[in-house]
Amino acid sequence: MEIKTIGIAGAGMMGHGIALAAALAGYEIIMYDQTDAILAVAQNAMENQTAKLIDKKVTTAEEGMSAMLRIQAVTAVDNLSQADLIIESIIESLEAKTRLFEVLDKVCKDETLFASNTSSFSITTLAAATQRPAQFVGMHFFLPPVIMKLVEVTRGYYTSNETVTQIKAVVQQLGKNSVEVKKDTPGFIANRIYTPLFLEAFKVYEEGVASKEDIDMTMKLAYGLPIGPFALADLIGLDILKAGLDYFHNELGPRWKPPLVMKQLVQAGRLGKKVGKGWYDY
Ligand SMILES: NC(=O)c1ccc[n+]([C@@H]2O[C@H](COP(=O)([O-])OP(=O)(O)OC[C@H]3O[C@@H](n4cnc5c(N)ncnc54)[C@H](O)[C@@H]3O)[C@@H](O)[C@H]2O)c1
Repeated sequence: MEIKTIGIAGAGMMGHGIALAAALAGYEIIMYDQTDAILAVAQNAMENQTAKLIDKKVTTAEEGMSAMLRIQAVTAVDNLSQADLIIESIIESLEAKTRLFEVLDKVCKDETLFASNTSSFSITTLAAATQRPAQFVGMHFFLPPVIMKLVEVTRGYYTSNETVTQIKAVVQQLGKNSVEVKKDTPGFIANRIYTPLFLEAFKVYEEGVASKEDIDMTMKLAYGLPIGPFALADLIGLDILKAGLDYFHNELGPRWKPPLVMKQLVQAGRLGKKVGKGWYDY
């Protein structure tokens, strides 16, 4: 089956970024979220990102304009019925994702492929909410999806070789590189390796060894990272990061326990850059 139309479920920070990246690559997009107000925010963010890409001469004004016209924003899940591929990118809640996939399984065509952009949950568990586990795969993008060049493609227990091949071709069409995660394990590759670095950075700060500014500067200047762990945590969203840590803690053991200070920031609504305050003020 040729993939022409991609349905994006969830138009948040990742969802609208993936929608724009896929529209710029020539796909027709149906972008679904719960309210018109959320979709309006997404539309505005995509317009700003497109203007920046045009400014930087990454794309032309005509290409940017026609990409935006290829994105249809909808609030009814039934409108995803014509998609050849669904990329789910709603909140990081196993319950919410499972419930949505149960509905999508009924709404979508039998041949439609399903992908989840979950940062941490088991692809096999999510696929079990559907009658199409062979057509179900993990597609983990990085922030901001329009810019970042990597997608982790994760096999669930039943994912077919054909599905993996088709999804890798989509990633290539998006102008990105895919890496294959052969076993469905928490955190896949990138988050499994980077999360201990977050935890250690937060611990060094909690112990009073150094300020968060100095820890961020150390990791940038000593190791050439483009951004330090505190600034990156704010960019990702502390709620998203904490949901991932809770899951890792449950699946992989006590050394992955989210630190108290992080729990307190989330409780205080300091969710990161998206709300103007997290580890830092913006
Ligand atoms: N933030 C990151 O850096 C990052 C990176 C890679 C993957 N992810 C993953 O991408 C997903 C989305 O993260 P985000 O940062 O875009 O979050 P976000 O909070 O910005 O967006 C989530 C969106 O999902 C919508 N939503 C919630 N429940 C829904 C439902 N039942 N149906 C339709 N829409 C629904 C919300 O209205 C919101 O617009 C998560 O699974 C997250 O783990 C995030």
